[in-house]
Amino acid sequence: MELKKVVDDAGHTLTVLEYKGRWLPDFPREAIAGMDTFEARHDDVIVCAYPKSGTHWVWEMVRFLLAGTTDLPVIEKDEAMMEFKLPQELENLPSPRPLNTHYHFELLPEDILRKQCKVIYVTRDPRDVAVSYFNHHTKLVQYYQYNGQWPDYFRLFLSGQVDYESWFTYTKGWERGIQEHPELPVHITSYEELQADTFGGLKKLANFLGVEVDETFLIQVVKKCSFEVMGATKGAQEVFDESSSPIMYRKGKVGDWKNWFTVAQSEQFDDVFEREMVGSWAYNLYSH
Ligand code: A3P
Repeated sequence: MELKKVVDDAGHTLTVLEYKGRWLPDFPREAIAGMDTFEARHDDVIVCAYPKSGTHWVWEMVRFLLAGTTDLPVIEKDEAMMEFKLPQELENLPSPRPLNTHYHFELLPEDILRKQCKVIYVTRDPRDVAVSYFNHHTKLVQYYQYNGQWPDYFRLFLSGQVDYESWFTYTKGWERGIQEHPELPVHITSYEELQADTFGGLKKLANFLGVEVDETFLIQVVKKCSFEVMGATKGAQEVFDESSSPIMYRKGKVGDWKNWFTVAQSEQFDDVFEREMVGSWAYNLYSH
């Protein structure tokens, strides 16, 4: 594993960790290596998403649903992030474990497939992902040391030169992986679906998890998982950002990309999206 500096067109560098040809954030080496020998439990539930797709939000929902209560300590989803926590720390989590990862499908630990753990796959409009990831990369200085500008970052994102690499490759890989493994229980949801009908999305999630919950509890979970509540309770604990502007609970909207993309960028993005994604599920979701 070694650190690698990616350089944007204006010469700004972004640091990633290279491991077996894949690009990751500069996370603890032992945690990343631990993914190779990860031991799953049959009742593990794993929230999987490309970064900035709503992982924190969905993980929080899953945590409450599995516990059957919203009366839980305030902890961040990174406490259960598979490539970030040490194997022993993951081992210490009580069952059923709500875990999460940004790994590509083909990099998922074998044991997850073998034990047929429940997987929740979350997708989001890649244009909103790009904007959210730009804010993430420019604010999380201790991991990335990146202080580039949006137009240059836009090109890095489009060409997949960021940690976890190309959104397009990631998304196609997940679609292929799900199709090739019909035995794996996967629930697919999207940031947009959850924004449009949080209660309905949560109900589907509860059904998938096989947890019996009443309407009052679901309403409570929706409230506890709202952007405002999570931002106030969890966002307040974010310690990374010197400017103290929120990173993980930044804006919480669908379509913020329209405030960032120029017409030319939008056209460029559409060209790549068309070339990469035609025929995919994501194409149907995001091509208009
Ligand atoms: P924005 O940067 O567009 O605001 P992830 O959890 O995968 O890192 O995704 C982070 C994105 O989800 C951020 O998007 C963040 O604001 C948004 N988000 C976090 N919690 C949310 C919530 N409870 N409701 C809606 N959006 C949320």
